[in-house]
Amino acid sequence: MFVPESIAHIMLQKISDLQSIIEADLAAIVDAASLEAFRLKHLVKKGTLQGLIDDLRSVPKEDKPTIGKALNALRSFVEERYTTIEQSLEPRTLAPSIDVTLPGRRPPVGAIHPIHAMIDRTIEIFSSMGFDVAEGFEIEDDEHNFGKLNFAPDHPARDMQDTFFIKSGVRSDVLLRTHTSSVQVRVMEAMKPPIRCIMPGKVYRNEAVSARSLAEFHQIEGLAIDKHLSVADLKATIMEFARKMYDATAEFRFRTSYFPFTEPSMEVDMSCFLCSGKGCRICKHSGWLEICGAGMVHPNVLAACGIDPEEYSGFAFGFGVERVVMLLTGIDDIRLLYENDIRVLRQFRS
Ligand code: PHE
Repeated sequence: MFVPESIAHIMLQKISDLQSIIEADLAAIVDAASLEAFRLKHLVKKGTLQGLIDDLRSVPKEDKPTIGKALNALRSFVEERYTTIEQSLEPRTLAPSIDVTLPGRRPPVGAIHPIHAMIDRTIEIFSSMGFDVAEGFEIEDDEHNFGKLNFAPDHPARDMQDTFFIKSGVRSDVLLRTHTSSVQVRVMEAMKPPIRCIMPGKVYRNEAVSARSLAEFHQIEGLAIDKHLSVADLKATIMEFARKMYDATAEFRFRTSYFPFTEPSMEVDMSCFLCSGKGCRICKHSGWLEICGAGMVHPNVLAACGIDPEEYSGFAFGFGVERVVMLLTGIDDIRLLYENDIRVLRQFRS
């Protein structure tokens, strides 16, 4: 006898069949494309699962709870497995493939700032001539910045350099050094001759900021003290340095000048390395570039620093680092060296 199967029975069979199909399809998901094909087949409104859920309508009322439960169980099972697989595929779906032929990305690389590159190069050149390096202090007292350098208390030379004084409840003579010559004093106080030392560092002057001057800049000072040092040693040392730094064929000119701490004092000019002395924009058509102040250390300075001027003599020189960087690089506004604009600095990667 033919016994018609109940609707509930058929539904349970269909649910079980679909479960088998779904399990097989889940097992076949290997990438984003097969995942999507699975979703379109089973999980969309017109998909297999929703089809069965729609059929629930034709199930007799008394069987609905049983069939509904079975359908819910299947739906949770599918959704859970689908999400798990989707998550496990995610990294690959976001970065579908790697093009190994692309060139690598360069990590950003920093560089030595042109000011410090210049200081390093100067140290290198003077080291090769047997000079040590000393740094001293940026915050100084009057005695080291002026007094022991033979600036008399009311000497007009103090006006040569506008000074930032530091307000202190205790002392009125604390200041930001206006030149690296203060380090000369520190070195002479601390060391016995023979002395050969260069002293790079930051200095401060109360000056209006412009394309040519800043209130804070760098100097490099040089000092040599020994028996029988003369102007000839001074000249040879500066010329050797400048020929290595700028131009091996440079000519020099030593003009008399005045500094309280040297006697005689001079300013040193070098034939312009850009036009070889013919005259150009950089040397203002004179053919000469001023490269440093210099002189023989004044006997008063030696004595103030505990060195016998009868036994020893010495020479000193000093120059501004920013000016040299500007000459060598063609930068014509000193402020560019302080603004840390990456577009400027990038040009000095070496
Ligand atoms: N200190 C001087 C200046 O700042 C430079 C200088 C140094 C001159 C040493 C002579 C000797 O201008």
